[in-house]
Amino acid sequence: MSTSRFLSVSLLLLGTVSAEEKLSNFAPAPYRAGPWVLSTRGEIWPKPQIQQSSSSFFSINPDTFQFKLGPELIECEIVQTALPRFFERVFPKFSTNSRTPKQELTNAIDQEYLGGLDHVRVELVGTRANCETHPYFGMIESYNITIGGGDKNVITSESVWGLLKGLESFSQLVYSSSFPSQINETTIQDYPRFPHRGFMVDSSRHFLQMKMLKQTLDILEMNKINVFHWHLVDDQSFPYQSMKFPNLSLLGAYQPYTHTYSPTDVEEIIEFARLRGIRVIPEFDTPGHTQSWELGQPGVLTQCYTDDGHPDGSKGPMDPSNESLFDFLTDLFQELSAVFPDNYVHLGGDEVDTSCWESNPHITEFMAHLNITGEYRKLESYHVERVLGIVDHLAKKSTPIVWEEVFDNGDNISKDTLVHATKAGFRVLLSSPFYLNRIAYGTDWVDMYKACIWGEWVDSVNLVTRAWPRGCAFAERFWSDSSVKDEAKAAPRLQEQECRMLQRGYRVNPIVGPNFCPVDWDSIL
Ligand SMILES: *[C@@H]1O[C@H](CO)[C@@H](O)[C@H](O)[C@H]1NC(C)=O
Ligand SMILES: *[C@@H]1O[C@H](CO)[C@@H](O)[C@H](O)[C@H]1NC(C)=O
Ligand SMILES: *[C@@H]1O[C@H](CO)[C@@H](O)[C@H](O)[C@H]1NC(C)=O
Ligand SMILES: *[C@@H]1O[C@H](CO)[C@@H](O)[C@H](O)[C@H]1NC(C)=O
Ligand SMILES: *[C@@H]1O[C@H](CO)[C@@H](O)[C@H](O)[C@H]1NC(C)=O
Ligand SMILES: *[C@@H]1O[C@H](CO)[C@@H](O)[C@H](O)[C@H]1NC(C)=O
Repeated sequence: MSTSRFLSVSLLLLGTVSAEEKLSNFAPAPYRAGPWVLSTRGEIWPKPQIQQSSSSFFSINPDTFQFKLGPELIECEIVQTALPRFFERVFPKFSTNSRTPKQELTNAIDQEYLGGLDHVRVELVGTRANCETHPYFGMIESYNITIGGGDKNVITSESVWGLLKGLESFSQLVYSSSFPSQINETTIQDYPRFPHRGFMVDSSRHFLQMKMLKQTLDILEMNKINVFHWHLVDDQSFPYQSMKFPNLSLLGAYQPYTHTYSPTDVEEIIEFARLRGIRVIPEFDTPGHTQSWELGQPGVLTQCYTDDGHPDGSKGPMDPSNESLFDFLTDLFQELSAVFPDNYVHLGGDEVDTSCWESNPHITEFMAHLNITGEYRKLESYHVERVLGIVDHLAKKSTPIVWEEVFDNGDNISKDTLVHATKAGFRVLLSSPFYLNRIAYGTDWVDMYKACIWGEWVDSVNLVTRAWPRGCAFAERFWSDSSVKDEAKAAPRLQEQECRMLQRGYRVNPIVGPNFCPVDWDSIL
């Protein structure tokens, strides 16, 4: 992992994906009037596994349209709270189409017109179904949709998480023209390719405003991403407000009052994500990437020494020779396991620079005591194993995730541990090909669709703009069938997804070259 992983994504590979998956060439035709790529209308991103649709369509009108919930959903919080959100996605606020005077559709003007559609039923089906409250690894996300007119309009799933995916797809089926909103006759049977589809943000190198984190979560939901990997703290700053150790953010944040996440903020993000079927996995990376910790918790880092044996005033990675470090980490991880409900926690473990350890006489002595003199990777392993031990003994059982170096070092890690890696192994999170922070001139989403990108700079100003809709490319590779990889076929749908996100009020980048979106810019900018 390089220090450039400011913003990356990950997915859980249960099988293997060939890096050689060949993609067709995407070649726009710039030398003619009009946009490079003609947008589709009412196509879903990421592409559903199975969909049949016809050119017959219904009109759909915000004044009369209703979601009709099955009786099993009447007291179901996840679905109930989703309805206002999805109503606004079906009829987006910032669409200039909504300004167009509504013409009445009649059979006379279009023989494909099947009349009005005034409701869709939303139903939890199957014997396993119940109204779950917290998303988790391996939750059911499959769903079906039928849009057939009359009373044959229905979204079904065996879980509320599948219903959220179905509602999103339904909202994307609706498109506008000069007529009222339309939706084509269609049937869909859909399910994800991978169970863990993650997006990582780093709120240490730059503090990210709550508003932008929430926008990000909304966009993740629109693209069926189900994990928000929150890299909360790092060398540069410690914005997480710990209840047990308030000095960590008071002294370690860029600004202790405006650039921190209070317990209420963290709770708000977890809740906002939960209601959207997104898990929040926090990362507290140790023993490296921890310079900011020392400010609020003096003594956790290793004192570095000059060649002639004097402390030189600088600090290295955490100091595993100091037993009180692990008492502190036990208390901190105890707090974290109570704050973050997910069953997974990311423990980092990457990029440890051992030169400071090498200079420190206490470390040398400690290593001699452990019989590992000169083997600094083993000291790193010792630290990681101690932290894994701490997490393993918490009252709430959590599965640890570590960066790949921990695995490469041959650390004695339990088979349950998830390795966040650049190449596939067994239970592995793959992230290195998917770096969204790097931008290139031109149609760089094509590389993303093939999955390959590296390092840049991201803060609240450009988080959404930089990551989207380019991130949609990986979202599709994670959800859709492995055969969905033709850039030329994806481009018109991606153009529609870009305009859709703009119409919903998110300031996303232009993505497939010269083009046009029917968007009310005055309201967005
Ligand atoms: C939806 O219906 C319209 C109007 O008949 C048609 O032009 C379009 O091709 C249809 N879209 C799909 C995906 O079938
Ligand atoms: C979705 O449709 C498939 C094929 O008809 C069916 O086997 C499955 O049970 C349906 N699932 C739900 C949740 O309706
Ligand atoms: C927090 O930092 C302040 C200022 O450096 C110090 O006086 C105080 O003792 C620290 N509190 C704890 C609990 O370490
Ligand atoms: C060991 O850690 C404690 C608590 O973090 C700290 O107060 C102490 O100074 C450290 N000792 C050394 C020798 O660094
Ligand atoms: C280190 O090696 C010595 C000599 O082989 C042995 O007595 C001692 O138990 C070892 N210590 C550890 C911590 O393994
Ligand atoms: C690895 O850890 C397990 C459990 O802590 C222990 O039983 C085993 O002996 C260790 N193996 C090695 C090679 O250290």
